[in-house]
Amino acid sequence: MKKIFIFHHPLIDHKLSILRDKRTKTPQFQMLVKEITSLMTYEIMKDLVTEQTKIETPVSTMTAHRLSKCPIVLLPILRAGLGMVDGIRMFVPFAKVGHIGMIRDEETLQPRTYYHKLPDDISDAQVFVLDPMLATGGSVVAAIDHLKAQNVSQITFICLLASPEGLTYFSTQHPDVQIYTAAIDEKLNAQGYIVPGLGDAGDRLFGTES
Ligand code: PRP
Ligand code: URA
Repeated sequence: MKKIFIFHHPLIDHKLSILRDKRTKTPQFQMLVKEITSLMTYEIMKDLVTEQTKIETPVSTMTAHRLSKCPIVLLPILRAGLGMVDGIRMFVPFAKVGHIGMIRDEETLQPRTYYHKLPDDISDAQVFVLDPMLATGGSVVAAIDHLKAQNVSQITFICLLASPEGLTYFSTQHPDVQIYTAAIDEKLNAQGYIVPGLGDAGDRLFGTES
C-alpha cells in the first residue's frame, strides 16, 4: 500500500483553521482552498523529473534544470475540486485539465457521475485527482476506477480533509495510489459529513448553501 502523506506545516494549519470556521465567507474560502493547495504542491511535485538545459544568463552560460516534458493532467472532481486547480496550475501551466462531475446521493451517499471529459492519450500521463473532501471515499474511488479503465497507472490523489473511514475504504480499493491530505479528521457523522470538517465544500466554495 502507498503511503498517506499528512501535511504538518504552520502555514497550512493556520489557513485550514480559517477555512473550517463557519464564519468564513465564499471569497475568502475560495482563496484559502487555492492557497493551501499551492502550499501542498511544493511537496507533492518533489519527484517530478528534470532535465539539463544550457542557458545564457546576462553574465555567462550555464547548465540549468528544467522540468522534463512529462505529461501532467489535473483531474478535479466537480464541483469542489475545481477550487484546487489554480493552486497547482500556477506552477505547471502546461498541465492539461480533465473534468469529472460527481454528485453524492444524500440518502445512500453513493456517487453518481454526470460528466466526464479527459484529454486524449492520457495513459502515459501523471494524473493528479483533486477533491478537497474524502468522506466515505465513494466519489474519488469511482473517479479513479474511471481513470484505470482508460489505462492510467500513475495516479495521485490530493485532498484537504480526509475521514478515517474514507481512507480505509480508499486503501482497500486503490492501494497503489498515493494520497496527500492537509488533515485527517475524527469521523463521519450519520449524514456522511466529515467531523469536525468544514461543512459542504462545494456550497461554501460557490456560495450555493441554503
Ligand atoms: C462532495 C465533495 C466530494 C464528495 C465526498 O461533493 O466535494 O466530491 O462530496 O464525499 P464521498 O467521499 O462520501 O464521496 P458533492 O457530492 O457534495 O458534490 P458538489 O461538489 O457538487 O457539492
Ligand atoms: N462532502 C462535503 O462537501 N463535506 C463533507 O463533510 C462530506 C462530503
